[in-house]
Amino acid sequence: MRLVILGAPGAGKGTQASLLAEFYHCPHVSTGDIFRKAIAEDTQMGREADRHISQGRLVPDEITIELVKQRIEEPDCQYGFVLDGYPRTQNQAVRLDEILRQKCLYLNKAIQIELGEDEIYRRLANRRVCTDCGATYHLDSLPPKTPGICDLCGSALIQRDDDNDETIKERIIVYHKLTEPVLSYYKKQGSLLVTSGEGDILDVHKTIINSLETRSLRANDSH
Ligand code: AP5
Ligand code: MG
Repeated sequence: MRLVILGAPGAGKGTQASLLAEFYHCPHVSTGDIFRKAIAEDTQMGREADRHISQGRLVPDEITIELVKQRIEEPDCQYGFVLDGYPRTQNQAVRLDEILRQKCLYLNKAIQIELGEDEIYRRLANRRVCTDCGATYHLDSLPPKTPGICDLCGSALIQRDDDNDETIKERIIVYHKLTEPVLSYYKKQGSLLVTSGEGDILDVHKTIINSLETRSLRANDSH
């Protein structure tokens, strides 16, 4: 399965991408996570990415497209992947199609998770992430067993630097301006699946799986 997950900041892309990757036994590739790792390791790319991420702006296409190309060419992505937070510009979407077409591959679906702005702020204000393994928690809906400590690896939990009101506001503006055209791009292709991000995490997951599996059954029927 080759999927991309789209949606505004805090819509639940990472949460759902991780569950989908587990369900389809394929890697969860998050451009945001890759950039945050590079920032933590203080690489040249990390320093460049940080200049943009800290302001809520997108990292330039020339960096992001090459990064994703290299990542999905790794052996573990051979049979599928769940791309989280990529593409975010129409140019990134076109290039992804080209990269896949060159390998006679295609995207199965682009999944858009919809969420209202008030809930976005509530989710991001209460999100905590692990400093080591990147696991994501929410103080109300998905709290860690011990406050401030990751259930999975025992490391400290922190708030992301870009989860402050000012940067969230800018990330939402950028989403409307640069990423919404990507939704139209996939809609025209007939590959967009729109789902609500409201409700329990596992209920959202089940709705997505039902839609994907029903569609693939229908596709098989028509052959
Ligand atoms: P990225 O890390 O992708 O950030 P984002 O798009 O702003 O999205 P988030 O990670 O904030 O939210 P999410 O949708 O993953 O929500 P989550 O599942 O965590 O990118 C960061 C930056 O990197 C960008 O701003 C940009 O600068 C750069 N970048 C990345 N990709 C790029 C690209 N392709 N091109 C250029 N630049 C790029 O959920 C949020 C919270 O809600 C969590 O606490 C979670 O536990 C909770 N939650 C989730 N679902 C539910 C639910 N159903 N009910 C209750 N709580 C829930
Ligand atoms: Mg995320």
